[in-house]
Amino acid sequence: MLKPPYTRYDQLHVYNFDRINLGKIDDPDLIGTWIEDDTTILFFHKEKQDLVDTICAQTEAKILYQAKLAYQDWETGLDITTFSVPPLIVAPLWEEEQLVNTEENIPIHLDPSVIFGSGFHPSTRLCLQVITDLLTSHPENIESMVDLGTGTGLLSIGAVKLGVKEVRAYDNNPFACSVATKNIGLNNCQEQVRIKETDIRHGLPDTGVDLVVANLYKGLLIDLFQNPDFWKAKFYIISGFIPSMEEELLAALPMNHLKLLERRKSDIWRLWLLAQK
Ligand SMILES: C[S@@+](CC[C@H](N)C(=O)[O-])C[C@H]1O[C@@H](n2cnc3c(N)ncnc32)[C@H](O)[C@@H]1O
Repeated sequence: MLKPPYTRYDQLHVYNFDRINLGKIDDPDLIGTWIEDDTTILFFHKEKQDLVDTICAQTEAKILYQAKLAYQDWETGLDITTFSVPPLIVAPLWEEEQLVNTEENIPIHLDPSVIFGSGFHPSTRLCLQVITDLLTSHPENIESMVDLGTGTGLLSIGAVKLGVKEVRAYDNNPFACSVATKNIGLNNCQEQVRIKETDIRHGLPDTGVDLVVANLYKGLLIDLFQNPDFWKAKFYIISGFIPSMEEELLAALPMNHLKLLERRKSDIWRLWLLAQK
């Protein structure tokens, strides 16, 4: 994530190692460390070949791939800039001067880092729009929320800013949890949002809340749908899938006790809003 002297992201230098135990990496240009399966991905603001060679020599790790790319090419190919889902206005840290706190604008400060949830992926934007619609039309219905795969924490923060009193947010990526924790702090939502590093495939959190948000991938959604304990909430926002996946996902839904309130789309991405019958 952003640490002084850096105030924005420009180039990303990405190194993927074939193992997870690389020791402590204390480098001023380090953006963050992802652990994925049995590999580690290090993200830097600058080229770090010497450091990478040293790590490989000390740990016998090998590089699986390395890349240099522009920041906007990491998630969507778009510039990460200020955007609005009224009444929310979301600004990355390098555009904070765009945030004007008026009755109509509720500001959100975001360090998107290299974590999913900048707001520029259509699935994130759809989720934020539906959360906003639900909470501005029927705020009394939604006081508690579970955010499955929180990424940057943007959806949890948006929900709190619109009145949700209690959010539990989960992610299995430790770096996502760190970035989400930072963003929760930047927006003073620490009282309302609890973040927990959890693999929800192996430990489903209690879903006995008003709203569950799950912007995930198809295989994980199907696993969740097939678990009766997943279906304890009043409302569900499900996203992260495209039309070719809809039939299989629909077939896995227990429609005997659910109704599909709404389907939305943006680009190739789809979202369902579900409620208990
Ligand atoms: C598509 S992103 C969504 C992020 C954010 N909620 C949004 O809408 O922009 C999915 C997130 O789920 C997390 N995730 C994937 N598999 C997971 C698992 N098994 N348990 C917990 N989190 C998981 C990923 O690390 C990622 O942050």
